[in-house]
Amino acid sequence: MENIQLFVPKIRVEETLEAIRPALERGWPGMGYLTLEIEEKWKSYSGYSYAHFLNSNTSGLHLALEVLKRKNKWANDAEVITTSLTFVSTNHAILYADMIPVFADVDDSLCLSPESIKSVITPKTKALIYVGIGGNSGRYKDVLKICKENGIALILDAAHMAGTKTHEGPHIGTDADVAVYSFQAVKNLPTADSGMICFNNEEDDSHARRLSWLGINKDTYARSTEAGTYKWQYEVDELGYKYHGNSIMAAMALVGLKYLDEDNKRRREMAQLYIDGLQGVENIKIIIHSDDATSSRHLFQIRIPNRDSVMNELNNAGIYPGVHYRDNTDYSLYHFGAGKAPIAHKICDELLSLPMHLGLTDEDIFRVISTLTSAVKSCNAA
Ligand SMILES: Cc1ncc(COP(=O)(O)O)c(C=O)c1O
Repeated sequence: MENIQLFVPKIRVEETLEAIRPALERGWPGMGYLTLEIEEKWKSYSGYSYAHFLNSNTSGLHLALEVLKRKNKWANDAEVITTSLTFVSTNHAILYADMIPVFADVDDSLCLSPESIKSVITPKTKALIYVGIGGNSGRYKDVLKICKENGIALILDAAHMAGTKTHEGPHIGTDADVAVYSFQAVKNLPTADSGMICFNNEEDDSHARRLSWLGINKDTYARSTEAGTYKWQYEVDELGYKYHGNSIMAAMALVGLKYLDEDNKRRREMAQLYIDGLQGVENIKIIIHSDDATSSRHLFQIRIPNRDSVMNELNNAGIYPGVHYRDNTDYSLYHFGAGKAPIAHKICDELLSLPMHLGLTDEDIFRVISTLTSAVKSCNAA
């Protein structure tokens, strides 16, 4: 029997190679016409008014905080409310921007709990990063309201949310101050590494563009279309980074975007098969995704006792689930936050992400369900 992996990216190889070819033939594989095209296509797909294509979500989260910090003149001891139940990029970004991560706790959705957020707000709180884990929007609307009422900037870490749409039509997060997507290899819109930052106003968007290109006020593509020596007269008046995307990744993303809705529909079908097969099974708690939006279903997560023994049994049967995530305050870098989010800390030991990718057949899902059900039973027999 074949092994069943957690993630396997689906790349439409021939179509992707054809999409990359013109960038190579034209001699423009860097930032340029295809990065502009994916920005335009992403805006019309998602409903965001602004979008800038980057080399990753990690750089986007840093950029989001830098743009907001510089604009609002936040001090270095400004606090950013965040979660410990995330990939470390979320929290590293706060440290990159010289601000202080303040951990709030999660609820059953694994997203930040509005009640816990309220309890950690101080006069120094300037921003909050909300992670839509697995594509789940949790209680996003309540969090947005809290941020607006308290003058806190809301940054949506939408790494898992490509294709998570509101019922009104546009993508989730168009009402946040900024949302940041990941198009890394195993995400719903896979490239090799890239991302998109979506601010809600032109000033922040153009600042992010400058900062993603070292602080230079004219990018190379804009300069290539200018005449004469004037094009070398660019200005640099603040420290920026090398965070912009390139046309090879943009070509991959343009192909992926065409199939995003179709792929996410299949992900939701797989999630439903898991729900039908696992609902009511003793010792298995399914993480429910909020009805407020149609989830991208990047992950299908459950909570189980004796998680590590169950995982070993699954591995012995050729099934390789994952864990999203280890409590970040368990890492020495973030020890200072230990004990601040006890629910997240407890849940992290119980979490299991079941295989979720477009190469899985219904039979594969049934095999995961039955192997998991027996493993949970045998590992938790009295
Ligand atoms: C929740 C979360 N945030 C941020 C990131 C970082 O994304 P990227 O790899 O595009 O930098 C990831 C990637 O796995 C993630 O899962």
